[in-house]
Amino acid sequence: MIRFEHVSKQYADGTTAVDDLSFEVNEGELVTLVGPSGCGKTTTMKMVNRLIEPTGGRIFLDGDDISAIDPVQLRRRIGYVIQQVGLFPHKTVLDNTATVPHLLGVKRAEARKRAAELLDLVGLDPKTFGDRYPEQLSGGQRQRVGVARALAADPPVLLMDEPFGAVDPVVRDHLQTEFLRLQQTLGKTVLFVTHDIEEAVRLGDRIAVYGQGRIEQFDTPSAVLGAPATDYVADFVGADRGLKRLSVTPIEEGDLEQPPVVHLDDPLPRDLDAPWAVVLDSDNNLHGWISAEHARAANPGDPGNPGKKDDTVRAHARRMEAWLPVGASLKQAFATMLQHDAGWIAVIDERSEGRFLGVLTPARLHEALRRSTAADARDIARAEVELETVAPLLK
Ligand SMILES: Nc1ncnc2c1ncn2[C@@H]1O[C@H](COP(=O)(O)OP(=O)(O)OP(=O)(O)O)[C@@H](O)[C@H]1O
Ligand SMILES: [Mg+2]
Repeated sequence: MIRFEHVSKQYADGTTAVDDLSFEVNEGELVTLVGPSGCGKTTTMKMVNRLIEPTGGRIFLDGDDISAIDPVQLRRRIGYVIQQVGLFPHKTVLDNTATVPHLLGVKRAEARKRAAELLDLVGLDPKTFGDRYPEQLSGGQRQRVGVARALAADPPVLLMDEPFGAVDPVVRDHLQTEFLRLQQTLGKTVLFVTHDIEEAVRLGDRIAVYGQGRIEQFDTPSAVLGAPATDYVADFVGADRGLKRLSVTPIEEGDLEQPPVVHLDDPLPRDLDAPWAVVLDSDNNLHGWISAEHARAANPGDPGNPGKKDDTVRAHARRMEAWLPVGASLKQAFATMLQHDAGWIAVIDERSEGRFLGVLTPARLHEALRRSTAADARDIARAEVELETVAPLLK
């Protein structure tokens, strides 16, 4: 969708901001550009909508060489969130959001209606915020307006230059979550600049790690974290990259263990060949768990418990607090285990009303992390893959 072919940019004073850059962003893909200040990220971005002209190479949008497209026409196909948000201070939030469609000839009333929908979409109630001016918003709210404005003309391509840069980590986390959810439905082709590696790996389908004016590695988050291509990348992603990989590796069904299972209306199990069993309801949805020891002690067949003939699992099952849907990240799994002080967590399928799929244990979590590296960094030998940072925590 967006293709760079040997693109360079040398400014008039001789600064080489971008040096022989070649990469491609596929349709519907979110690519993050990450690197230190001054490495050429904004320059890369602005060449896509021709705010800056390259001094060498070519850029294609949907197969068309953009140097042959009228810049105004080009920018209609591309939403742009600039580094400092850049809202018009004298316009209300609603009018700011409606600017582009209005410029494109959409009638004012219609543009404002669409703007209200978009504000809603980014989590700002148009009734509350629509008539405010940018200075009457918090930094995070302003950034949302910036995103709404970029989406207003429904462009297939979005350029986002540090759109969540100016807010605290909590708001930033919230904006990232919302944006990911939004992107799942919108499926835009996105080039997203950040200097924050955590943000880059969380949002990107693929990441371009920039050195000075060049891409040092262009790959999936888990490949970049699991197998940095150069010392520079290893340094940039940080020594805790093993931990960071937890957040980009989803739980898959194949990672799960199958413990003994009992149902609510079953008689109390006499001999479980495990310390506990998972308890399911009659639809095979997760209800909770039961400990083997407890089941044995309460068992009607037990000499110490005469007379409790009708005892079923239901009366003795405990509710399960530690569970996650399949597809959640290993980081969430790990956090959930710690939060509930649980040795394992149940994994369910949310799409089928919570059907129980299996359990994730620390050992399986560790294996899943290895699996992700093996799959993503195909030719990398296991020994080269760093898991040391995680392994001790799982013991
Ligand atoms: N108009 C200009 N004239 C000369 N040099 C420029 C110009 N604009 C940018 N540069 C230089 O080009 C290099 C890349 O700048 P760019 O704005 O692309 O960096 P960046 O990666 O976006 O940095 P940041 O993370 O700080 O936003 C820098 O060294 C910068 O000083
Ligand atoms: Mg920049």
